[in-house]
Amino acid sequence: MTTQWSAEAAARVIAEHSGVRGPLLPVLHALQEEFGYVDPAAVPLVAKALNLSRADVHGVLTFYSDFRTTPPGRRRVGVCRGEACQSVGGRSLAEHATSSLGIPMGGTTPDGGVSLDQVFCLGLCSVAPAVLVDGRGVGRVDAATFDGLVSS
Ligand code: FES
Repeated sequence: MTTQWSAEAAARVIAEHSGVRGPLLPVLHALQEEFGYVDPAAVPLVAKALNLSRADVHGVLTFYSDFRTTPPGRRRVGVCRGEACQSVGGRSLAEHATSSLGIPMGGTTPDGGVSLDQVFCLGLCSVAPAVLVDGRGVGRVDAATFDGLVSS
């Protein structure tokens, strides 16, 4: 369960994580953990707290594909792009996921129902290809299984 984004809540999260060495990535991860994404409005707050330029913070935020800058969908689905999954149908599963949902990796359906991301090795290589649905790993996923998981 994530918190609704607000500047006040973001300031609290930033303060809690800004004391560590090399704080930028930990702070951004903490914001994403708290809100489900890093709202672009947090960039100046982070920059000020860490004495960095907004461009520096924005650059890191947009460099790493792990970070979302828009709210996630109600259902969060990740398709594993790790080697083991890729070797047994993960590539075509990812193509099916993007085409059946009509969104790219990193996107969210227009109704806010599902967000789709790529993930890298869920520790389910022996039952590849695998997906992550709302934090739960599922193995041996094919197109039909994927559609069932997303619509259930
Ligand atoms: S590579 Fe996909 S679960 Fe390990």
